[in-house]
Amino acid sequence: GLILRAAADPQALAVQAADLIAERVRVKPELSLLVATGSTPMLTYAELARRVQAGTLDLSRVTAVQLDEYLGPDSLGLDDTDQRSLWGWMQRSFVGPLRITRTVRFQFGEDAQQTCTHYDAQVSALGGIDLAVLGLGPNGHLGFNEPPSGPDAPTRVVPLSPESQVSNRVYWDREVPRQAVTAGMTVILAARASLLLVTGEHKRSVLRRVLNGPATPELPASLLGGPDVTVLADRAALGSA
Ligand code: GLP
Repeated sequence: GLILRAAADPQALAVQAADLIAERVRVKPELSLLVATGSTPMLTYAELARRVQAGTLDLSRVTAVQLDEYLGPDSLGLDDTDQRSLWGWMQRSFVGPLRITRTVRFQFGEDAQQTCTHYDAQVSALGGIDLAVLGLGPNGHLGFNEPPSGPDAPTRVVPLSPESQVSNRVYWDREVPRQAVTAGMTVILAARASLLLVTGEHKRSVLRRVLNGPATPELPASLLGGPDVTVLADRAALGSA
């Protein structure tokens, strides 16, 4: 049940992704949206922001749900003002410019596992996720569901793989945290729809494995396969696949 759509380049992809998201919100204004950070969706969020600011799109009834977050050395969330905080990034790139009023985030207290339990309860109270907007890790991760993550992998604390520590280094010039919390594969795969955004030649080989290979926990993105999964990729990522 996976629909593959091609875009000429990252900007064309952003317009197509924004069109898809806007259409879902038109059908259901109270959409619950799982929101990835990372480089890939930034042009899409900017395109959505343009529409909101132009008054042609209203996201005020949408609930934006955080996908993942780094943990500091104390095994709790980073300070909101830490430039590496993914919640901070989601605020700057999505919640603020898109004028989102309802959010679900990882809330840190004394124990990160409790944070995960509380997160799952908040997502359940929302009625689950309507649309998951996802990026593709170079190692096939979704959120921080590092390989191997099977379909039952819960919302949890995860050590970041050496590969993810390297790939996340481009976001800022500070040390990449060693641990994170992530929405489980359980949450992601239960989403009623998902949109996987993939751009750039550096994603070509992993995308090919997602599209052609067997579904395996070794490549968590390959487990996407519900009735309403769209993979939107640009030419550089598709190559001749
Ligand atoms: C990161 C994040 C994911 C993101 C993915 C792809 O490590 N944990 O949420 O979707 O990897 O990132 P990018 O879009 O920067 O390639």
